[in-house]
Amino acid sequence: MHQSKVSIFSIMSALAAQHGAINLSQGFPDFDMDERLIELVHQAMQKGFNQYAPMAGLSLLRYAIADDFLKRYELDIDSELEITITPGATYAIYTALACILQAGDEVIVLEPAYDSYIPNILQCGARPVCVPLKAPDFRPDWDEIRGAVSPNTRAIIINAPHNPTGSIFEPEDLEELAKIAERYQLYVVSDEVYEQLVFDGRRHQSVLAHPGLRSRSFAVFSFGKSFHCTGWKIGYCIAPAALSNKFRNLHQFLGFSVSTPMQKGLADYLTLPQREVPGIQMQARRDLFLRQMKKTPFRLLRPAAGSYFQILSYEGISPMDDHSFATWLTKTYGVATIPVSAFYSDGRDDHLLRFCFAKKNETLEAAAARLSSIVM
Ligand SMILES: Cc1ncc(COP(=O)(O)O)c(C=O)c1O
Repeated sequence: MHQSKVSIFSIMSALAAQHGAINLSQGFPDFDMDERLIELVHQAMQKGFNQYAPMAGLSLLRYAIADDFLKRYELDIDSELEITITPGATYAIYTALACILQAGDEVIVLEPAYDSYIPNILQCGARPVCVPLKAPDFRPDWDEIRGAVSPNTRAIIINAPHNPTGSIFEPEDLEELAKIAERYQLYVVSDEVYEQLVFDGRRHQSVLAHPGLRSRSFAVFSFGKSFHCTGWKIGYCIAPAALSNKFRNLHQFLGFSVSTPMQKGLADYLTLPQREVPGIQMQARRDLFLRQMKKTPFRLLRPAAGSYFQILSYEGISPMDDHSFATWLTKTYGVATIPVSAFYSDGRDDHLLRFCFAKKNETLEAAAARLSSIVM
């Protein structure tokens, strides 16, 4: 693992700023979010929604989320007992882990993985047991995952749509996961922050839709990712009542509650008759990005099926390790990306870079123009 205390995202963004590079490294949009949501939060402040919200979140918002899940997934979720609003998904993942883990427990992590999982597990005195997702598909190998279970295994963290690879789960993945989780009595922490960003007519496979998994899962979501307001840091955790109780017991002394006007604005936004469909918009950006990148010497392994990240190989361009290559690319061609080895605890380096395509068309076109001038 790269032991730097500063995350690779901060390093690459700082390098991008220093060299005037186009920043396709960190996962956030450079385009505007829906004005109406900003206006609804503004109105909430003016109407006096400015004091502490209830610990589990505004009932209005939790009700609106339950209604949204009913409409989009035909899932029946108890808004009072099963939904807790949190200051972001990262916080919800930590809280879920902290309320189930004890020192000496093990947690299975599929790598490449979002960077908070392993530090969170270690913080709880538990041990991450990493199983690789391998290029080019980055599909979970359920036999290998089964083989990683020990008597100390307490939980598994999954993430689909996946950061950094853009892979998604198929229904068979949930079946396999359920068999393992049921047989070994594991909790599941399911990071579903990119749930609304699934492409090509596919459907997001939520653990909440699988009865065997739902009873043992904490599913975690982020408004930042769904509504392009990552800086607001608001998310939520959906879990059965007993698990939500454990979660809330910790949450009440960790964060206690989340910004009231934003919760009210989000509740009103969720109930608007017409909202943007984030997946359609993002698929258009992915397609534009891939068309543009055809002019460059980067090699596509698989188009991202979800999330807002695309993995590309630079194997034909340089034999450099991926950190050196990403640094060189930023300095020489003015495009910042993330080296994929940063998402593996053993630094596995398959000469891949992660590009974030949640960017304006002109940003993506300008980045591709710079990259098409690479001399090999
Ligand atoms: C897989 C994954 N989970 C969680 C998060 C963080 O969500 P939030 O900003 O709501 O904490 C991110 C952000 O990049 C992510 O990629």
